[in-house]
Amino acid sequence: MQIDLESVFSGYSGKREEIIPILQDAQEKLNYLPKEAMRKIAKFVRVPESSVYAIATFYAQFRFKPMGKNHVMVCRGTACHVNGATRVLEEVEEQLGISEGETREDMEYSLETVACIGACSLAPCMMINKDVEAKINKKKVAKIFSQGN
Ligand code: FES
Repeated sequence: MQIDLESVFSGYSGKREEIIPILQDAQEKLNYLPKEAMRKIAKFVRVPESSVYAIATFYAQFRFKPMGKNHVMVCRGTACHVNGATRVLEEVEEQLGISEGETREDMEYSLETVACIGACSLAPCMMINKDVEAKINKKKVAKIFSQGN
């Protein structure tokens, strides 16, 4: 795959301190950070590729595998946990046919868990792309995904 990051690099001068914003911009452009992009970024900032990986893997925001069209994030924070987040996650996994951290083969869905999505009073909840699904239970999960499939 030929990856063009010139439009990303044009906004930077190639300094080591710029690695994180460059990674963010590259991910925004490509949806994830493929090996080829990491290699090009390392070359641009004149830092060994292993160091760029060390920085990128430290932050949860960076992905090294492509993300599905729909990004499902089940909250596992305390408020959601005590209100049944584990059962919700199991049902989402069942409905989508993938486990946490995976992307479906048809690239329709990626599933992740998050520490808190800032809607604790609506626990348990999850996000599908930018929408919050509040006070969810197994039945609601089944309904949400049966509509989308
Ligand atoms: S703990 Fe789930 S939204 Fe805060």
